[in-house]
Amino acid sequence: MIKTTENIAPGPVAGDDGVTATVESLGYDGRGVAHREGKTVFIEGALPGEQVRFRYANRRKNFDNGGMTEIIAPSPDRVTPPCPHFGVCGGCDLQHLRPQAQLQAKQKILAEQLAHIGKVQAESWLAPITGPLLGYRRRARLGARWVSAKGGMLIGFRERHKSYFANLDTCLVLKPEIAALLPELRALIGGLSCAKRIPQIEVASGDEISALVFRHLVPLTERDADLLRAFGERHRIQIYRQEGGPDSIVALWPDEPEELCYRLPDFNVAIHFRPTNFVQVNGDVNRKMIGRAVELLQLDGDEQVLDLFCGLGNFTLPLARRARRVLGVEADEALIGAARRNAGLNGMENVEYRAADLFREDGPAPWADFAFDRLLLDPPRSGAMAAIRRLAEPLPSRIVYVSCHPATLARDSEYLVHVLGYRLAAAGVMDMFPQTSHVESMALFVRT
Ligand SMILES: C[S@@+](CC[C@H](N)C(=O)[O-])C[C@H]1O[C@@H](n2cnc3c(N)ncnc32)[C@H](O)[C@@H]1O
Repeated sequence: MIKTTENIAPGPVAGDDGVTATVESLGYDGRGVAHREGKTVFIEGALPGEQVRFRYANRRKNFDNGGMTEIIAPSPDRVTPPCPHFGVCGGCDLQHLRPQAQLQAKQKILAEQLAHIGKVQAESWLAPITGPLLGYRRRARLGARWVSAKGGMLIGFRERHKSYFANLDTCLVLKPEIAALLPELRALIGGLSCAKRIPQIEVASGDEISALVFRHLVPLTERDADLLRAFGERHRIQIYRQEGGPDSIVALWPDEPEELCYRLPDFNVAIHFRPTNFVQVNGDVNRKMIGRAVELLQLDGDEQVLDLFCGLGNFTLPLARRARRVLGVEADEALIGAARRNAGLNGMENVEYRAADLFREDGPAPWADFAFDRLLLDPPRSGAMAAIRRLAEPLPSRIVYVSCHPATLARDSEYLVHVLGYRLAAAGVMDMFPQTSHVESMALFVRT
């Protein structure tokens, strides 16, 4: 993790033409990694294999940071970024790298983390799970800021390494029908009485309909509500307002909106959700990911499966179509309520859900009375160590670990392999967030 507090040398020098370096690899945040004067330097904008000129941004005790000023010898994998906001917007940081090379770089990062942190190697590599390269985001949080010096209302994502907002006219990774609304959305918010008190807009798309949730820090006037309703009606997009926490969302248009829903046709499952619920961002990759997880768990209808960090039941319900019984555990009570409802709507009775904090290690495990022979883990970035430490004999024969952070997957792999005696039978990356340096992966652990 890059620390930002140990400056030991001054930043860029005015008139400095910079220095040259050959970039060796891609860092975990999409920057090129080189070595100079015996130190690692992270160079913004540079790609592996390139010779570049760069200027130091700051120099720290253990590493330096720099910004590329010239490409002396470009990588054959360098491409023209498709988005006009690339380089400013912090949403995507790898658009300048050919998509196939993005995946190769992510697999390399995963292999390195497993080796260095986890002291493990995958026995085999799964083919990367891929999907559309653009227009894939069905869930996003757009920031809104009133900045008089920049002409008023800005909406978009944070700028790269800055606290400013990039003002987006378009966004190529958002669903196109949502991206097309950005200019009008900016004008809409700019025209509200409380334009300066709208910090964010949540975007959520189901298979058929989309929703926008406007967070507002002061009450809306009747005119504000009318303007928002008219926008929703004009674009046939559901509009909600949210004055406080996630439970405070209220529909503005239509009065009684149809529930958002995505389908998993391979399992004859439909998942209903609220616009502020966690859903996997990339619907296409999500479907393939579930198919792969179920396949790796080798279910023939007689197994009992534990699904930890189950959310809305995204894995639980498909697993329950192939197994005898599934127990899903999750901390968020609202998600557990929605998960139970989804089980009912899908007519599934071999599923049980429990709300529990899986980071706690005290007391009996929330699954203590459930005998299971397969385990699915899909934790947040901080990983699943506390839950893994509570696994006891008889241990499940197969574990599928879905990870959004290679470092914690690697840390947890060390425990699974070197303490509990599993083999890391396979690992692979998933292109859940193409054009970004975000690495999603899946690992299969087997114990015989
Ligand atoms: C990566 S999401 C996966 C959700 C679900 N498996 C899916 O595919 O939609 C991680 C989940 O872990 C849950 N979570 C976060 N911290 C937790 C904790 N301490 N204990 C249990 N669940 C937690 C979140 O609420 C979230 O639903």
